[in-house]
Amino acid sequence: MSKELIRLKDVSMTFDGETVLDNMNIYFNDKEFLTLLGPSGCGKTTTLRIIGGFLVPTSGDVFFDGVRINDVPPYQRQVNTVFQKYALFPHLNVYDNVAFGLRIPKAASDGEDVIDQSSSKKKKQKKVKLSKDEIDQRVREMLEVVSLKGFEKRTVSSLSGGQQQRVAIARALVNRPKVLLLDEPLGALDLRLRKDMQQELKRIQKQMGITFIYVTHDQEEALAMSDTVVVMNNGKIQQIGTPEDIYNEPKNAFVADFIGESNIVDGIMREDYVVEIFGRRFRCVDKGFEKDEPVDVVIRPEDVDIVDLSQGALTGLVTSVTFKGMHYDIIVDFKGFKWLIETTDFCPVGSRIGIKLDPDSFHVMKKSEYSGMYGDYSSYSAEYDEIGDVEYQEEEAPQEEYYEG
Ligand SMILES: Nc1ncnc2c1ncn2[C@@H]1O[C@H](COP(=O)(O)OP(=O)(O)OP(=O)(O)O)[C@@H](O)[C@H]1O
Ligand SMILES: [Mg+2]
Repeated sequence: MSKELIRLKDVSMTFDGETVLDNMNIYFNDKEFLTLLGPSGCGKTTTLRIIGGFLVPTSGDVFFDGVRINDVPPYQRQVNTVFQKYALFPHLNVYDNVAFGLRIPKAASDGEDVIDQSSSKKKKQKKVKLSKDEIDQRVREMLEVVSLKGFEKRTVSSLSGGQQQRVAIARALVNRPKVLLLDEPLGALDLRLRKDMQQELKRIQKQMGITFIYVTHDQEEALAMSDTVVVMNNGKIQQIGTPEDIYNEPKNAFVADFIGESNIVDGIMREDYVVEIFGRRFRCVDKGFEKDEPVDVVIRPEDVDIVDLSQGALTGLVTSVTFKGMHYDIIVDFKGFKWLIETTDFCPVGSRIGIKLDPDSFHVMKKSEYSGMYGDYSSYSAEYDEIGDVEYQEEEAPQEEYYEG
């Protein structure tokens, strides 16, 4: 069983009267890879700074191993940070950059008493200095972990972006923190290197057996790396879960839209396992709503089957087609509401198609403050104008009296 390491309890943060974190409640487990995911300005960095001790929350408490640490300064927390800008010392070589933190005499080498010293009862602090051999051993060990063995003497300016980031990670880990905070650490790297470093970071986290709290606004990155994803918006947690939970069972239209592509339509839950969209009833796998409760219904682009017009539960007009390599993205107009559908069948622009929806292609959500704001691809299709421009005449819609189940 994983053990809770950090907890934010009722944490709020206000700057100049503006609330940027709104009553956050969350815990972080030991040895967990947890990602804070959300759009720019949602409060991710602010959350990290509170955990790191660089900011004191306006209200609420921060606990480490059950001890309240609101007033513990950063250097006394068993937490280190890696930033997007690596902040390496340009005049020092790789070895000395990593060794830097080890050469400063510390109040205690590592371990629990660091926290104790911060409590109101001041103990006499004993400064501990590591021996040269010990420093050497730790630096070499860390360079090995980040795959930079042999780079000891290199200047940091001679390194690639990815290599510099590895140095920054080694430097942050060499003090053996219990938690590493990573604020968009791969943001400056190109896509290919980013993907390699994602795998590297995951391996390093496993190998070191420590907690990573990772910040990104890239949903793919979050899904690929994390044990737990925390989706944030406007200073509030929208959902916490495994990558699979967040993708398959989004809690509201914001999460559904932010994570992957989603068509989100208005629906009515007629009874358990029966949802109505576009005036038509479909079998679904959702239950537990009020009878006739208005709901938001998510249908992922990859969950729509294209069938013969005569077989279609719904029929629509293809208004744009984009070749994506493995599949086509098509935009289909259903009575003025545009869906994104992923298909391996080629459906030319201007054609009418039928679609079939299996019970598990629906995901039903409660109405929320985000209802009606997301999940229509009218504007998305505009991006494809050059491919998708067709004269399309309103065709008489065929009879759409198809019911599933
Ligand atoms: N020191 C500060 N003073 C005033 N406002 C601040 C301060 N720090 C952050 N903010 C505001 O708080 C909000 C959240 O900022 P934060 O940096 O946490 O966002 P973020 O989720 O990390 O965004 P990004 O993805 O762009 O890095 C923003 O509106 C920001 O302008
Ligand atoms: Mg930020």
